[in-house]
Amino acid sequence: MKPAERFSLAGKRAVVTGASRGIGWSIARGFAEAGADVALVGRRQETLEPLARDLVEQTGQRALATACHMGKAADIEAMIAGVLDAWGGIDILVNNAGTNPVMAPLATLEPSAWDKIMDVNVKGPFLASAAVVRSMQAQGGGGSIVNMASIGGLDASPLLGAYSVSKAALLHLTRALAKECGSSGIRVNAIAPGLIETKFAAALIETTAIHEALLRQTPLGRHGQPDEIVGAALFLASEASAFVTGQVIVVDGGSRM
Ligand SMILES: NC(=O)c1ccc[n+]([C@@H]2O[C@H](COP(=O)([O-])OP(=O)(O)OC[C@H]3O[C@@H](n4cnc5c(N)ncnc54)[C@H](OP(=O)(O)O)[C@@H]3O)[C@@H](O)[C@H]2O)c1
Repeated sequence: MKPAERFSLAGKRAVVTGASRGIGWSIARGFAEAGADVALVGRRQETLEPLARDLVEQTGQRALATACHMGKAADIEAMIAGVLDAWGGIDILVNNAGTNPVMAPLATLEPSAWDKIMDVNVKGPFLASAAVVRSMQAQGGGGSIVNMASIGGLDASPLLGAYSVSKAALLHLTRALAKECGSSGIRVNAIAPGLIETKFAAALIETTAIHEALLRQTPLGRHGQPDEIVGAALFLASEASAFVTGQVIVVDGGSRM
C-alpha cells in the first residue's frame, strides 16, 4: 500500500460529534476530503444542515446532519440508529463534542455543573461508543473510535477540575474499550489537544494574562488551530494506524513533556 493510500478513508462511514464548529468541523471536513461519508452531530439541526450541504458540494461525499444532545441517552440512541438506517453501518466514530459550563474551584462547584460535564464528556461517548461497537461487531468487526480528550485529562488543571476529571475518565474509557474490542478488530484511541483557538477556549485566549502564561509553557510559542488536529484524527481513523490501539496522541505545541 502506498503511503497516501494508508491515510485514505474512501468507502468509510464516519460519525463526528461536535461537528458544528471548531475542532469537530475541521475533522468532518478533513475526513470528507479523505473520502469518507460523514454524519455531522451537534445540538441544532439548522446549524448542521448547511454544513452538510457544503460537504456534499465541496467533496462529493455523502453527508448527514443529525441533531443530538450528547448528554441525552435517547438522543444518542436515535442518532446512531438513524445513521445505521441511512448508511447500513458506521466505520469511524469521533467522540469530539465536549462541554465546560463553568471555571470554578471544585470546592464551590455546583453539583449540577459536575453532572452536566460528566453527562456530555463521559457518558455520551460511552453510550455512543457502546452502540457503535455493537453495530461494528454485528457486521463482523473492524472500525475505529477516536475520543477527543485534553491535556487536562493528563495533568489536572486548577479551576477546570471537573473538566479534567471528565477527560481523564474519557482516556480510561478509551483504554478499557480498546482492551475489550481489540479481538473484534475495533481500535480505540484518543487525542489530547492543548490550547486550540475555538469558541470553547475563547476565555483562555482572550484573557491576556492566562494566554501569555500558557504560551510561556509552550515550546512552539503559540496556540493551535482546529485544522492542526485533523492529521492526528486522520491517522487514528485510517489504516495508517492499523496496529495502534488504546493510545493517546498529544497535540499541544509541546506544552507538556
Ligand atoms: N479548544 C481547546 O483548546 C481544546 C483543548 C482540549 C480539548 N478540547 C476538546 O475538543 C472538543 C471540541 O471542542 P472545540 O474546542 O472545538 O469547541 P467548540 O468550537 O466550542 O465546539 C464544540 C462542539 O461541541 C458541540 N457540543 C457541545 N455540547 C454539546 C452537546 N451537549 N451535544 C452535542 N454537541 C455538543 C457544539 O455543537 P452545538 O453547540 O452546535 O451543539 C460544537 O460543535 C471538546 O471535547 C473539547 O473538550 C478543546
